[in-house]
Amino acid sequence: MTSLNLKSFNTLSVEAVADQVEIVASEDDIIKLAQDHGSTRLLVLGEGSNVLLAPAVHRVVCLMRSRGIAVDEIGSRIKVTVSAGENWHQLVMWTLERGYYGLENLALIPGSAGAAPVQNIGAYGVELADVLSHVDVVDLERGGCETFTNAQCGFGYRDSLFKRTPGRYAITQVTLDLSKEPGVVAAYPDLQEEFEREGVIAPTPEQVAAAVTRVRQTKLPDPTLTPNAGSFFKNPVVTAHQAARLQQSFAQLKVYPTEAGVKLSAAQLIDWAGWKERNSHGVRVWPRQPLVLVNELGSSGADILQFAAAIQSDIADRYGVRLEIEPDVIGFS
Ligand code: FAD
Ligand code: EPU
Repeated sequence: MTSLNLKSFNTLSVEAVADQVEIVASEDDIIKLAQDHGSTRLLVLGEGSNVLLAPAVHRVVCLMRSRGIAVDEIGSRIKVTVSAGENWHQLVMWTLERGYYGLENLALIPGSAGAAPVQNIGAYGVELADVLSHVDVVDLERGGCETFTNAQCGFGYRDSLFKRTPGRYAITQVTLDLSKEPGVVAAYPDLQEEFEREGVIAPTPEQVAAAVTRVRQTKLPDPTLTPNAGSFFKNPVVTAHQAARLQQSFAQLKVYPTEAGVKLSAAQLIDWAGWKERNSHGVRVWPRQPLVLVNELGSSGADILQFAAAIQSDIADRYGVRLEIEPDVIGFS
């Protein structure tokens, strides 16, 4: 394929012309593209639901479209190996229909299976690292295929080895470690509220997936109707000392202690700072989840970045907290 506007290949729906676009249907395809163009020229893309693209992307865009799911049953454990181009949500539903449990909290997350390890997708109390066995990759720099165990993926909150080495690896397959025995995770406040309202005391995995779907549909904008890339910022992680100091000034501040430090709610800070009232040519925060920036009037990637920078600077001034952008920002010099 020659150059192409990637507007319909990124969920923020920004205009972005790529030098070249190629469909990757197999491991051999991506190996050949790396040989032909060199790793630094390639941009591996799944469904474009976590990227912010510049108007010109001077790269060979490799759309990961390999398909296939294989199952290996070992007693009550199930290993599901999925090709990078499979849709994540369809995979979640596919596993649930067969009684393979573990992915239910991750229902309705947009994007491809191959991208899931990149930022260690997470939602409603579960993250990919909890259910991932291993990942098969092509090393685009050195050539050749490799397998990374869960531990070797170096997962953290919205973080992984792949996120820290952009352009180095193309993930070709993801293997999940699921179970035939339901092990429900339903402590997340939104899920508890759902089950309390419905009078459900011991939810099944199917009920968890349904509740997650309802909550997401209520809070998050549907990217097919309202362009967005999900959370535009990560929740900031600060020291216990900084969190305590902030709490002295802001008694209602939400704090979530984690191993890496104290996580704050970026949505809360953005909300308090009054950003629900601001709008720049259709770029604004989503009122029901102000971590999400929406692009309603076809603004460019640069416009969105400028709006995001204004939020970052305001939050830094008010709270002394740095908000880090979650999507991969691509093509800006
Ligand atoms: P892309 O956007 O195509 O790519 C994202 C990054 O991964 C890029 O750096 C790309 O180069 C790289 N990449 C993609 N595929 C591969 C591959 N095969 N090998 C190597 N690198 C690759 N995320 C969450 O964690 N939790 C949520 O709850 C959540 N909710 C969301 C809600 C909405 C409405 C939207 C729009 C997004 C949400 N996201 C969420 C973000 C997004 O769904 C995930 O990051 C998803 O994994 C991105 O998949 P993708 O195929 O669209 O990746
Ligand atoms: N909040 C406000 N004002 C609002 C809305 C929310 O103050 O208008 C506060 C509420 O107090 C709420 C808190 O924000 O308790 C947290 O909201 P939510 O439960 O939606 O979670 P989040 O921390 O904002 C994270 C992820 C989401 C993921 C949800 C559910 C990040 C950056 N985001 O959002 O992931 O779906 O938890 O687990 O960690 C994504 O990464 O793209 C994404 C959508």
